Amino acid sequence: MDVVSPEPFTIALIPGQSEMVPKSYQVIARKWRPQQFEEVVGQKTITRTLQNAIRLGRIAHAYLFTGTRGVGKTSTARILAKALNCHQGPTPNPCDACPSCLEIAQGNAIDVLEIDAASNRGIGEIRELRENVQYAPSRDRHKIFIIDEVHMLTTEAFNALLKTLEEPPAHVIFILATTELYKIPQTIVSRCQQFDFRIIPFDEIYERLRGILAEEGTRITDQSLRFVVKASGGSMRDAESALQKIVSLGGEGVSDEDVSALLGVVQQDFLNQTMRMILNQDHAGILDLIDRLYDRGHDLQNFLRAFMEFVRHVIVHKVTGSQQHLLFLSEEDIAVIREIAGQLTVEEFIRHYDLLLQADNQLRWTPFVRFHVEMAFLKLASMPKLASLEQILTALQEAPMPVRPAAPAAGPPVAEPAPKQPPPGAAPPIEPNSDRDRIRIFRDAIGKQHAPLKAMLPHVELHLSGRRLEIVVPENTFYERNFRHPNTQKQLEDIFIELFQTTPEISIRTKARTPENHVRQEDTQRLREEQKRVEALFMEDRVARALIDKVSGKWIFKRQP
Ligand SMILES: Nc1ncnc2c1ncn2[C@@H]1O[C@H](COP(=O)(O)OP(=O)(O)OP(=O)(O)O)[C@@H](O)[C@H]1O
Ligand SMILES: [Mg+2]
Ligand SMILES: [Zn+2]
Repeated sequence: MDVVSPEPFTIALIPGQSEMVPKSYQVIARKWRPQQFEEVVGQKTITRTLQNAIRLGRIAHAYLFTGTRGVGKTSTARILAKALNCHQGPTPNPCDACPSCLEIAQGNAIDVLEIDAASNRGIGEIRELRENVQYAPSRDRHKIFIIDEVHMLTTEAFNALLKTLEEPPAHVIFILATTELYKIPQTIVSRCQQFDFRIIPFDEIYERLRGILAEEGTRITDQSLRFVVKASGGSMRDAESALQKIVSLGGEGVSDEDVSALLGVVQQDFLNQTMRMILNQDHAGILDLIDRLYDRGHDLQNFLRAFMEFVRHVIVHKVTGSQQHLLFLSEEDIAVIREIAGQLTVEEFIRHYDLLLQADNQLRWTPFVRFHVEMAFLKLASMPKLASLEQILTALQEAPMPVRPAAPAAGPPVAEPAPKQPPPGAAPPIEPNSDRDRIRIFRDAIGKQHAPLKAMLPHVELHLSGRRLEIVVPENTFYERNFRHPNTQKQLEDIFIELFQTTPEISIRTKARTPENHVRQEDTQRLREEQKRVEALFMEDRVARALIDKVSGKWIFKRQP
């Protein structure tokens, strides 16, 4: 007499059936369910521990498998069941040929009962389970209960389950699986040996999918494959379902563009373009790009988040110099990130990130997603104009702003003043060969392209002779540090090359910081204007404004005596 009938539980979980994926997309996932511990991707620590335990005969009465969707919990539960009940076992490598192994793989083994708690939430099922538990296995070594989605059980059902877990008969083994550990009572958790399944790293998913494609004799482009992996977010099942989608649409014949839109993955190229437009303050370009994304049916919040991830990549790269986290990007994309990282300071990128984060939060409350996203990116594009608070404070401290008039007897100026801008309309014709004109063009270009550098220009002298660019800076000042910085030199070099198609030889010379260096009477007017400008710049700064808001005060600008 076989009392252990699975019927009362509607137990048999047909592989793939509880999976939230349309049926037509399940084929690959089902076919490629790992059958051996070694085949479970990305969960080595867990599978090795289980195999060792089996080798040593240290079997727990209850296991709890936790982790996000589609990372191998149910698959591992079944492999464990096979390992324990294999007619050649217990063995860390089930034979996959005996009746027990074959039946478990198909989900209809007589002594392995799979309960999908999502559809059997009630106390009735668990009570029946409790009764069932008492009977010996009908054929195999253990009676194994796999309870999937165990967090869905009702409190009463949990209590009933707990009673069983407290005094399980020797032949019974429970394997509980859940995506939501926090919903499981501590009393249950503490009676189980717990294994946390991790999100599977992109490169391991990538390799697995490549293997599947090769075995199946199907091809999709490498770019599409990367989109598939990205879209999976680290879930192997989601990756396999996405792959199935692309394959069933025509595999290699589907354009990368369509694949990215279909899977909601933002192409790296869009991100690169956006960043370039931000750096170039190309507002119109940004609006146009968002318009194109919108037209193609991209989710704009998704785009914003992808861009945040991109900025994070840039920051991590800039701070650590490491490319570890970029491993999944192509060589060209890594090169772009490297180049972009050189263009702003870490602080500036962090400000980008902050602004994006705020925008992302606001998107939760607004029906006007598109406008918000547009404004966020336009704000980013306006940001490079704002010098950092630190820069401005230093500039304020060190800016020459004399209160007392310069001594009339001051010696001759040590340095030539910076060439004055000719009044508009009166510009002398530009002779390309005149160093004087070239230096003027150069200064203008710096002014247009780099607001922070522009603010410093009045405090340095530039001398040009052929390709030799000499920069004279006041010694031991912010200006010296800044102009000696490789980033600054790189920026100057780039501008120079763009203008004159040749690489400059840049040298830095310092001059002592004596009052004569700057407290020249004819400069006083210029310095006043300079102070006004620095103040204005300061007041424009987001941080400065935020500080004012915080203390509801106002800034007072004081000149150094
Ligand atoms: N770690 C993995 N290695 C290889 N394939 C995997 C892995 N995880 C999931 N898969 C693939 O995804 C399918 C579903 O996996 P499984 O049912 O084990 O996931 P799960 O963690 O139980 O997910 P859920 O929480 O949604 O039940 C498998 O058939 C297999 O094709
Ligand atoms: Mg599962
Ligand atoms: Zn077997």
